[in-house]
Amino acid sequence: MARNKKRQQTRRHTEDSQAAEVDQQHPLEMLREDHQALQGLLTQFEKGNGRARQKIADEALTMLDIHTQLEEKVVYPAIREATGDDQGIDEAEEAHHAVSSIMKELRKGKTKDTRYAAKMKILTENIQRHIESEEQETFPEAEKADIDWQEVGQETMALRRRLMRKMGGKNGMSLKKAA
Ligand SMILES: [Fe+2]
Repeated sequence: MARNKKRQQTRRHTEDSQAAEVDQQHPLEMLREDHQALQGLLTQFEKGNGRARQKIADEALTMLDIHTQLEEKVVYPAIREATGDDQGIDEAEEAHHAVSSIMKELRKGKTKDTRYAAKMKILTENIQRHIESEEQETFPEAEKADIDWQEVGQETMALRRRLMRKMGGKNGMSLKKAA
């Protein structure tokens, strides 16, 4: 998929795409906001109890699912293509793979189950490592690369909208970012 600036220069912009440029959020900024929101939910989970705790866990899992898909389907391929950093992106994808197996088990269970809290703790530790690795290494490197962030941003937002329509309604997750 064409994402570099040279191709961008030859592409014709319609009035709609020019309008979208004005208020479109940078995709890495969107992902950093996801990280913050996830950290907030995981902290609330640790402190919460009862039904509220289940709701928080469900929301965190949905948010993480959407975040992971945005990275794997749109942002990582763009970074891989521009930086040629196969090892870094392979490692990030393997980290997602490790998290996805814990997520599957959590989705099948309930907060009252034995080991649910233990699994959430392991998930939280994995997410912390994911955030550190992306925010300290992957994203700063990507920001130096020749990437058409406008195009990546449009694809990221389109996928976010689709996924939120599909998953967001299930547990009342905020659709603010899909607006
Ligand atoms: Fe991330």
